[in-house]
Amino acid sequence: MNIDKSYQKTADLSEKLADYKKRVHTFLSAKINPRRPFSLYEPIHYTMSGDGKRLRPALTLLTVEAFASSVDNALPAAAALELLHNFTLVHDDIMDRDATRRGRATVHNKWDLNIALLSGDGLVALAYEALLETKSEKILSISRLFTQGLIEVCEGQALDIEFEKRNDVLADEYLDMIGKKTACLLSMCTQIGGLLANVTTENIALLKQFGWSLGIAFQIQDDLLDITADQKLLGKDFGSDIKQHKKTYILIHALEKGSKAQVREISDIYNKTDIDNDDIFKVKDIFTEIGAIKHTQELATSYFSTAKNALEGLSESADIKYLDAFLNFVLNRKA
Ligand code: IPE
Ligand code: IPE
Ligand code: MG
Ligand code: MG
Ligand code: MG
Repeated sequence: MNIDKSYQKTADLSEKLADYKKRVHTFLSAKINPRRPFSLYEPIHYTMSGDGKRLRPALTLLTVEAFASSVDNALPAAAALELLHNFTLVHDDIMDRDATRRGRATVHNKWDLNIALLSGDGLVALAYEALLETKSEKILSISRLFTQGLIEVCEGQALDIEFEKRNDVLADEYLDMIGKKTACLLSMCTQIGGLLANVTTENIALLKQFGWSLGIAFQIQDDLLDITADQKLLGKDFGSDIKQHKKTYILIHALEKGSKAQVREISDIYNKTDIDNDDIFKVKDIFTEIGAIKHTQELATSYFSTAKNALEGLSESADIKYLDAFLNFVLNRKA
């Protein structure tokens, strides 16, 4: 019988992801259980039980599994990385003034600003609590990476907000900003996974590169999905980046390559106080005419191939088949 190998790989990966999701959830359930004070733990439970992809714990556990026979010792760190990610989302939704996430109301929309701020803070504390349950002689290095990563995410988010007010953001500045706000966390997953599996310093460097490039590609893709995704699948506010004047690569490229008339049309829409869905579709059409969407897709593809090269560098010392399937899974995501 002729079995399509790539299909087989995807099917295996989804079983593995479902299994990891269950194990991480079991580990987390006591921590996120709604209890007193409910104003803190209910929104935390709500956030953590949303329909997220759970990519970060999956990436951590797949990295461990590529080198080691068991992922058991990595569950607390994997859960910690998901908690930390969810903290960034709750506060990010306040900063981006978004009303929906994972197909439901955002925390500050369902409750209020104070509750969203505090439950975000609580998620960071729970993330550290989980991380410190890690049984490994590398716990100090792991904690340092985690802390340094959190600082970088804050820096990235600060730049993202600063850029809303600037009209001269360069492509390199954009790449630096998404490196900090997004790629850093994915690279923490692969590096922490590597530390837990006791890999060599050379392999940690390749894992760092793999996670980083995958993260850059992931954020470029996220920016594209903001205006290209099927709105029902996206589960987030459509066109939010345009409404919030985000300096995405798509915009930076369009402003650089567009004709005077096209640039004026884009600026006129961005300067409106009440940008609606029609405006977003108009901007998207101009981006398409300029070739900015296609060019941005190519940029994402180039980071996916850098990630793939780093992964192949690991193939002598690790079984990379699931990490490779994971990369393809992210590459083909629709939300
Ligand atoms: C959203 O991350 C935030 C970004 C870094 C773009 P995900 O797309 O992984 O969000 P969930 O966890 O699946 O909802
Ligand atoms: C998110 O970037 C980065 C972090 C949460 C740190 P976005 O603001 O683009 O993420 P979404 O689109 O709201 O998920
Ligand atoms: Mg956002
Ligand atoms: Mg944001
Ligand atoms: Mg986004």
